[in-house]
Amino acid sequence: MTDPSGIDPLVEGPRTRLRALHPSEYRTVFAWYNDPELVSPFDRFSLDTFEGFVQDVESASDDPRSLAPRFVIERREDGRLLGLLGHFTPHPVLSTVEVWYVMGAREERGKGYGSEAVRLLVDHLFRVLPIERVGAVCDAENVPSVHLLERVGLSLEGTLHRALFHHAVWHDVRVYGVTRSAWASRPTSA
Ligand SMILES: CC(C)(COP(=O)(O)OP(=O)(O)OC[C@H]1O[C@@H](n2cnc3c(N)ncnc32)[C@H](O)[C@@H]1OP(=O)(O)O)[C@@H](O)C(=O)NCCC(=O)NCCS
Repeated sequence: MTDPSGIDPLVEGPRTRLRALHPSEYRTVFAWYNDPELVSPFDRFSLDTFEGFVQDVESASDDPRSLAPRFVIERREDGRLLGLLGHFTPHPVLSTVEVWYVMGAREERGKGYGSEAVRLLVDHLFRVLPIERVGAVCDAENVPSVHLLERVGLSLEGTLHRALFHHAVWHDVRVYGVTRSAWASRPTSA
């Protein structure tokens, strides 16, 4: 099924679909990407230029390490853009992929859209990549993100103590992951 943007969705869940960004959405997404509230959990210090951002987005498919957004989360019901998703290879040797996620539409948070979208992304990554693990890291104090990862079905694997210098304080970072076999055997209601 084609979505209202005319771009074939990558995957669809009950309430959301993931698809590539359309150039007409770059300004909206760029604004989210540079919104301090949204990106502060990632601790990005520098603002991107719009031109650099577009270049990053458009070259991301050729670069597994790219931190650029790869997909938007779109609500199926009305085509509203809800957020962004990315994934990247964090290590030159280890065979693992990490996901990241932001719900740019703040008033739509807490309604389960983020969890559904991340679940769709993890599913997709296991389907298309020959990897055994998908992971995510998050600030231990980022309660919504911790809840999202646990709800989606990633397990807490450990803590990187004082690994993130954020708002002038050292923070612990939680490491989450799920193996291919654990994902395949997770309860279907998860
Ligand atoms: C993290 C984020 C993507 C969650 O998206 P969302 O659509 O609100 O998530 P969901 O509605 O699917 O909720 C996921 C879980 O988080 C909980 N949650 C959501 N917002 C919350 C809040 N403000 N406080 C506490 N818990 C919250 C939900 O209750 C749910 O947990 P539960 O299953 O135990 O009830 C969103 O808060 C966000 O964009 N934050 C800013 C960017 C960010 O921190 N990204 C992650 C960086 S590691």
